[in-house]
Amino acid sequence: MAYSGPFQPGDKVQLTDPKRRHFTIELVPGANFHTHKGMVAHDDIIGSDEGSVVTSTLGTDFLCFRHLLVDHVLSMPRGAAVIYPKDAAQILVEGDIFAGARVLEAGAGSGALSMSLLRAVGEKGHVYSYELREDHLEYARDNVKEYFGETPKHWSPRLGDFGEVTPEDLGGPVDRVILDMVEPWQFLDTVREILIPGGVFMTYVATVPQLMNIMEGIRAQKCFTEPRAWESLVREWKVEGLATRPEHRMNAHTAFLVWTRRLADGVTPPRPQRRARR
Ligand SMILES: C[S@@+](CC[C@H](N)C(=O)[O-])C[C@H]1O[C@@H](n2cnc3c(N)ncnc32)[C@H](O)[C@@H]1O
Repeated sequence: MAYSGPFQPGDKVQLTDPKRRHFTIELVPGANFHTHKGMVAHDDIIGSDEGSVVTSTLGTDFLCFRHLLVDHVLSMPRGAAVIYPKDAAQILVEGDIFAGARVLEAGAGSGALSMSLLRAVGEKGHVYSYELREDHLEYARDNVKEYFGETPKHWSPRLGDFGEVTPEDLGGPVDRVILDMVEPWQFLDTVREILIPGGVFMTYVATVPQLMNIMEGIRAQKCFTEPRAWESLVREWKVEGLATRPEHRMNAHTAFLVWTRRLADGVTPPRPQRRARR
């Protein structure tokens, strides 16, 4: 799949009409896209630059762009709730997902995070995505293949329980572990086993009781640094002259992010020093 350059046959193109409605088509030479605003010939788009305007037979202008990853994630079919782009961005940076990293995620769910991880680690890295449910893994496989145009060679989607994964299954320990599941605190022994010393472990939990359980669980393992917890709030703004203000609506809560690092074997975490209360 091409990510830039003039449109080619096979590209997925998002057409936006003057009312900002989106229509996605796959370019096929000789084919036509029909709407009640007239017909658009795919051949009028093939060969043009992204950001071009194509005019239908009834005179409606459509703006043409390729789907970005964020557009794909928010519009793709899903079996399980996805990690929202604002949180995936936090995971990529705070989780230090570097080019060439070996990353394990579970559960794969609908494959939303898998795609961001696969792009970040690149072909020299590897992403292992474990998923308990066959139907969810099928969504992940289809969504990832749809986005990349093929199943990436540096991706191993696997049906199975994360709790049963061993370093041998992965050809050795991994650099990063990301868990998005209901009870991640049940699987901390596995995280400890498969994560390299210094490796980053992040998890994503929706509720306060889950947050408390995972924070306490990490501390009890005594092989991780003092965990950090936060959430990200993104509020869009309408910027139009005197009407400039925050948007009325926002996704106020998605989930909490939890972060820690694996200590070297045999090391116990230094006691965190808390400032005395005044
Ligand atoms: C919220 S979804 C994950 C969504 C995914 N991160 C995404 O961005 O599309 C949680 C998934 O974890 C899976 N799951 C729960 N426990 C699991 C386990 N022990 N091993 C593997 N997958 C598990 C569930 O079947 C579910 O599909």
